[in-house]
Amino acid sequence: MLNYRNELESMPSYDGVEKNYRIKVNANESTLSLPAAVEERVLNRLSMLAFNRYPNEEYHSLAAQIAKSFSVEESQVLLGGGSSEIIEKVFHAFGGAGHKIIFPQPSFSMYKIYAKAAEAEGISFSLDKNFDLDVDAFIKKVREVDASLAVVCNPNNPTGNALTIAQVEKIAASIDCAFLLDEAYVEFYGLSAVGLVEKFPNLIVARTFSKAYGMAGARVGYMIAQAEVTRMINKTFMPYHLNVLTLAAADIVWQMRDEFSARLQLIISERERMAERLKKLEGVRVFPSQANFILIRLDRAQELKNYLELLDIGIRYFSPDAFGLKNCLRISIGTPDENDEVFSAIKSFNWE
Ligand SMILES: Cc1ncc(COP(=O)(O)O)c(C=O)c1O
Repeated sequence: MLNYRNELESMPSYDGVEKNYRIKVNANESTLSLPAAVEERVLNRLSMLAFNRYPNEEYHSLAAQIAKSFSVEESQVLLGGGSSEIIEKVFHAFGGAGHKIIFPQPSFSMYKIYAKAAEAEGISFSLDKNFDLDVDAFIKKVREVDASLAVVCNPNNPTGNALTIAQVEKIAASIDCAFLLDEAYVEFYGLSAVGLVEKFPNLIVARTFSKAYGMAGARVGYMIAQAEVTRMINKTFMPYHLNVLTLAAADIVWQMRDEFSARLQLIISERERMAERLKKLEGVRVFPSQANFILIRLDRAQELKNYLELLDIGIRYFSPDAFGLKNCLRISIGTPDENDEVFSAIKSFNWE
């Protein structure tokens, strides 16, 4: 008998098997890869890499660039393999026996798993029936349970709604513990709390290249916090945890991020166009979204999901035991043509 770590057996596994749908709007990815001009420079750069060296220089080059863009010091930036790795490490840093990590639900399902992996007690705080966070009640709960880490996703996945920066500031100012703000979708919202990091030593902002910058396959994310916080969290990473290919590609993408502005605007306007059309369907509740996806609720959600699957369109269905998400479907925003096709397919569902 192999003697695994306690509780490993009861850990849920992330089901990473993704079907390659004709129209894949189930995972909040960008449906477009890199803009041609960016891709050309990335490929050019990759041909010049020193594969034989550990990627020290490339790590610092990207971290320094990100720091400069946000007017913070490089010592305030940490890079990770997607924001997933950043989040997991932050949970690790504030977890451990007897520590409590609190996060709203429904929210990003991995928080619960990371809390468990960090051997902390995960505490879910329910959003209201409109999926809004009662900020005062949340603050009260964070204090009451004496959490070591509070986590908020803004805009929230999978509901799409967002707190204002004033609300984020209120939370940061009112709790003593670490406060991780997951801004994976912030580029579709436009209001980031990075500017608050200087003021609040407990605030950690996690961001990613996976959504707005179409880099989900490269796995790169970053966090910004005060230098003392990054110094501590940095201890939880392996040396050279990001590979040179990812770092070099991300470096170019960051330098050329203006090339993404037009497509970001397009996703935002397509989101609004899609929301307006979906609202006209009887029996469909459309939740307001500031992200690159829309959450809807309808009685026959599972049937609709199955119907779309027959048409080789993948959208996200939530299992009935996912808290608060009964009969909900999440649809990522694709290109205008993809959105038209998804909408026509939804309309052609037998609504009787
Ligand atoms: C809210 C949220 N945070 C973090 C992530 C992790 O993304 P990545 O590791 O690709 O940066 C996701 C991915 O879907 C997400 O929805």
